[in-house]
Amino acid sequence: MTASGETAAAGEVALRVSDLTKHFPMGGWGRSRTVLRAVDGVSLDISQGETVGLVGESGSGKTTVGRTLIRLYEPTSGRIEFEGRDITRASGARLRRDVRRRMSMVFQNPSTSLNPYLRLGSALAEPLVVQRMGDAAWRRDRVAQMLELVGLDAAMASRYPQELSGGQRQRVGIARALITDPSLIIADEPTASLDVSVQAQIVNLLERLQRELGLTYLFITHDLALIGHISHRVAVMYLGRLVELSPTDQLFAEPLHPYSAVLASTRGTPEHRIIPAGEIPSPIDPPSGCVFRTRCPIARQRCAAEAPPLHQAGPGRFVACHFPGELGLSAAAHSARPQPADITFASSTTAQPQPVAAAPGPPHREKG
Ligand SMILES: Nc1ncnc2c1ncn2[C@@H]1O[C@H](COP(=O)(O)OP(=O)(O)OP(=O)(O)O)[C@@H](O)[C@H]1O
Ligand code: SF4
Ligand SMILES: [Mg+2]
Repeated sequence: MTASGETAAAGEVALRVSDLTKHFPMGGWGRSRTVLRAVDGVSLDISQGETVGLVGESGSGKTTVGRTLIRLYEPTSGRIEFEGRDITRASGARLRRDVRRRMSMVFQNPSTSLNPYLRLGSALAEPLVVQRMGDAAWRRDRVAQMLELVGLDAAMASRYPQELSGGQRQRVGIARALITDPSLIIADEPTASLDVSVQAQIVNLLERLQRELGLTYLFITHDLALIGHISHRVAVMYLGRLVELSPTDQLFAEPLHPYSAVLASTRGTPEHRIIPAGEIPSPIDPPSGCVFRTRCPIARQRCAAEAPPLHQAGPGRFVACHFPGELGLSAAAHSARPQPADITFASSTTAQPQPVAAAPGPPHREKG
């Protein structure tokens, strides 16, 4: 059983993603052809009106998932259903009508997504022109309405992006994303480039818009405090795979996947922080079996031989691990503090994982 088709939220499914992969060719021919597995077999449902937070280390494939869902990238394989339609290979008028009109992306840096030579009114009206929605007068009214909806003065339509603050520019980015009346917003680090005080305003705005317009969000961020605040459920990615999908409170209180435990532990006190060894391996040459095994504190022989499928491990909880819940936060908090000699991590993608006898060894924790 996979996460797809088994969402925790009771509402109607807005987006259904089944076994989605996105591989980038990196050159070579025949046997020497190399591919980068940016997204590898991701399955996920999102219910209408739900916010799913997508987290994971840099390079884990979060943005690629977002860009593939909205069909800025062609999926390598798998299936994407949105609002009951298969949009995996939609093109032309169907892509415009079924995908681009009803699904939008908010980007990290609004400055780069707004043309500096275009007045805001024209930039905002652009998606309406592409979608052939309304005449010029209707589009002008719609632009004014959207500016006000995001807390800006309608007169700003005559301004240029560089005349605005970062927070105002992100409000314009959100207005532009909403102008065609989408139901799903993919927000990719929408607050990362903003001052802390402005970040809170943008988050409040997104929450208000969700309530007023019934929006569904896929919210990509590194900010775990923000994820804890805004998301109903959290999807954790590692090296292109979805390794856990759980309701937010449960993911942070009782993580099932060791990598989720790593993330959840960063919200606790420094002495209980779990730090995995080394760096994320290359998605061009991922480890055999479980892709987290080269850094996992509880890896054992089976982890190198068998890739753990994402499976249901409780009501609304999905995990890709042979030993879910073994590296729990409470175990980390109550076990003896490890000495450096106790810590046994494999260090490269080719290294064999350390077998663990009866009980998993203590996790590596940051020195307090
Ligand atoms: N257009 C592309 N061509 C080739 N490789 C790509 C392309 N886009 C992304 N990648 C690679 O795919 C992997 C996933 O990248 P992605 O940007 O999706 O990660 P991310 O989780 O969003 O990272 P970050 O948190 O840094 O934004 C990385 O190894 C990246 O180098
Ligand atoms: S216990 Fe094994 S399967 Fe689970 S995350 Fe660690 S290496 Fe992967
Ligand atoms: Mg990204």
